[in-house]
Amino acid sequence: MSDFTHNFWSIYVAGLTLAGIFGCALLLWMTARKKIDSSDDNTTGHVWDEDLMEMNNPMPRWWMWLFVITIVFALGYLAVYPGLGTFAGKFGWTQVNEYQDEMKKGEEQIAPVYARFAAMTTEQLAGDAPAMAIGERLFMNNCAQCHGSDAHGSKGFPNLTDGDWLYGGTPEQISETIHKGRVGVMPPMADAVGSSDDVRNVAHYVLSLSASPHDSVRASLGKSKFVACAACHGMDGKGNQALGAPNLTDDIWLHGWGEAAITSMINSGKTNQMPAQADKLNEQQLRVLTAFVWGKSNQSSPAR
Ligand code: HEC
Ligand code: HEC
Repeated sequence: MSDFTHNFWSIYVAGLTLAGIFGCALLLWMTARKKIDSSDDNTTGHVWDEDLMEMNNPMPRWWMWLFVITIVFALGYLAVYPGLGTFAGKFGWTQVNEYQDEMKKGEEQIAPVYARFAAMTTEQLAGDAPAMAIGERLFMNNCAQCHGSDAHGSKGFPNLTDGDWLYGGTPEQISETIHKGRVGVMPPMADAVGSSDDVRNVAHYVLSLSASPHDSVRASLGKSKFVACAACHGMDGKGNQALGAPNLTDDIWLHGWGEAAITSMINSGKTNQMPAQADKLNEQQLRVLTAFVWGKSNQSSPAR
């Protein structure tokens, strides 16, 4: 297929290509015909740099034949392969077909491997070394850029190995996260909390929940303001996996800890997204990935 917007461009490109090839042929023919008078010593009479003279020898035959072969080859190639504008070529070869053939071959090769996985549960897959070797490669190619090659994550990108889950760590929940993606939304909450001092107080209360270093006077002042947060994080601050609201009592911080990080969360809020993978990977790959991620935080797996 071609992306020409108008048939004119196809003809234009084909015309230029053919003009180039026939131009070469014409040049060869003209130069082969032209006889240059030479003097008795077989030079053309041109002299450079005082004593450099040009001999009047014919061009080597082999070189001329190479030239002819190139021209014939070009014409033959353009007759059978696509190259002349939108002309598809006699063989009907396309890059798309070639790509699809190769993909089909690859899938046929891998099918028996995945067929064995089909009957296995997530837990069994996580304990299966060949499955986890595939899982690791899939993870490296599709997930590591955000979650890190060891799946330990970084600021804003959750650690997948720590047993602490925004959206839940059962095979079903992990599978849903990977299939559909997730969007975690914490709205800016400063207005609901009150003055900037109130915001600082709540921040210290949040720090106190995980026994992180905090100012206990501010924390006790902030406690009553935490009702504004309870709708999502729960009255006890343990979070809510249905909303992706993190547990604030476990000293695991996705967006950083300390007064500054938390007041900034309260003042500005945060929208964080895990992109859906269902349209990028097939069902079998997603199963293996689910098991790989599950295995990262569950003992029985060799992939730890
Ligand atoms: C573009 C970056 C990006 C890529 C690529 C990505 N993720 Fe994520 N992932 C995130 C972010 C960000 C979150 C947290 C979302 C939130 O805070 O609401 C997340 C969350 C998750 C969670 C939920 C963790 C929890 O605590 O509940 C799982 C599981 C997960 N990702 C697995 C994967 C897997 C498996 C892949 C590869 C197929 C992948 N991710 C690819 C950015 C990414
Ligand atoms: C509408 C629901 C909602 C409310 C209300 C809410 N949060 Fe959140 N909060 C979230 C979500 C969702 C996240 C995770 C964002 C993400 O996906 O990364 C979050 C993240 C946080 C974090 C970051 C945790 C970490 O691990 O880094 C802190 C701190 C926090 N909230 C504190 C508060 C405080 C304090 C309040 C009340 C003033 C509050 N939140 C109110 C939904 C909420």
